[in-house]
Amino acid sequence: MSAAFRPKPHPSPDQGRRFAFWKPRGIAFQGALIAGLVAGGLTWLGGQYLIQTDSKALAKESGIGLRHQAELMAHEIGLPLDAGEKQRALQALHRRLAQLPGATAFVVDANGQTILAGGPDVGAQDIRHVRFIDENTQLGDWGNGKALEVSQEVRGRLLPIGTLHLRQPLPAPVWAGGILPLAQVFSLFSAVAAFCFLSFAMRGIDPLHRVLDRAGAGDFYERAPVVGCYELRQLIQKTHEVLQRVGTAQEEAQKVYVETAIALSKTIEAKDRYTSGHSQRVMIYSVEMGELLHFDEERLETLRLGALLHDIGKVAVPDDVLLKPGALSDEEFQTMKRHPMAGDRILSAIPGLRDMADIARSHHEKWDGSGYPLGVAGDAIPLEARICAIADAYDALVTKRSYKPAMPVAKALEIIEADAGTHFDPELARMFVAMKRAGKGYKPLPQPVAVEVGRNQESISS
Ligand SMILES: [Fe+2]
Repeated sequence: MSAAFRPKPHPSPDQGRRFAFWKPRGIAFQGALIAGLVAGGLTWLGGQYLIQTDSKALAKESGIGLRHQAELMAHEIGLPLDAGEKQRALQALHRRLAQLPGATAFVVDANGQTILAGGPDVGAQDIRHVRFIDENTQLGDWGNGKALEVSQEVRGRLLPIGTLHLRQPLPAPVWAGGILPLAQVFSLFSAVAAFCFLSFAMRGIDPLHRVLDRAGAGDFYERAPVVGCYELRQLIQKTHEVLQRVGTAQEEAQKVYVETAIALSKTIEAKDRYTSGHSQRVMIYSVEMGELLHFDEERLETLRLGALLHDIGKVAVPDDVLLKPGALSDEEFQTMKRHPMAGDRILSAIPGLRDMADIARSHHEKWDGSGYPLGVAGDAIPLEARICAIADAYDALVTKRSYKPAMPVAKALEIIEADAGTHFDPELARMFVAMKRAGKGYKPLPQPVAVEVGRNQESISS
């Protein structure tokens, strides 16, 4: 019994396989995307900061140059203004502007309107005075580049008419254009690096998911390879420990359940001295056939227990029907026919006994589909149930019952042979008959001989 309840932990199918770094793609992809974006963003922001710093230095340098030009301009313009030669003042301004490639100069009035700009078409204005408005101002690092104030003399008073502006666009650092490509390269590199790292660190996630899925389905013996980062390895080991405890608890629960079912089955059989030991013999015959079919140990154990408990559903059949010595009425027979489904419900109530429940449910199905409770046929009937059906019928034939004496083995084998292909799986029936005729396997004690078979012998005629 124990083997069926002690499946060995088996490793995940991933164990031993070559590492596939793309497997935990969800975590790796998201992590790589975030890492790439962060790396690219930091690179870009760092570049922008360096550009600003460099630009300030350039602005300061440019401002010093412009200021010098403004001083020269003020000197050249100031003299003609004092003499009232406006045209000369403008010419001087134009000449000076021509020496500032890329720079512009213009005078803006108090309303923000340009009233004089560097160029040959600028109209004459009453410029009478030019002076610095802020000795400390440096062009280039100052917002408007405002350096000179221009005033007009009206009735002996100097009234401001505008301010002279000098502007020169600052060149960007030569390396500034490389910031975006650099950020893109860093993003890509960081994304690939993060993807590889996370994939490697999290490579135990998928197998662990499979282990938990299997546990959810009642299999607590699937194991995942203990791989990945430290935290993940700890998680996998803890999961294995918990599953081991749950699996052990389930084994104990199954043992108790099956032992209870066996005790109950024996109790039912003990009510009728003629059927006492029937399930044990059905188990022996079934296992003999399972061994002929080279079942492995686990499958043999399932067959052994399933055959032993194949009639457990009779616990739901009233004693007046179960123990009736004579023929069953139609109504009583319908009651008796409920026991396979009752057995299925009893054995499928606990995880891990599904295969045994299949035997209990299907041991009265027939190869041609005329059996019960579902009327399935051929290979649709579980193999173990087909085996159990032959063993069940054979034992019922060769043992004495309240309504019939025991049948000779040779006659019973003839009946099973005749029913091959209708009641029984033909191949299994021939195999069983051949085995028994060869004198192999278990032989029940000889009993009084008879050939009649009664209606209430549910194992044969129903
Ligand atoms: Fe039965």
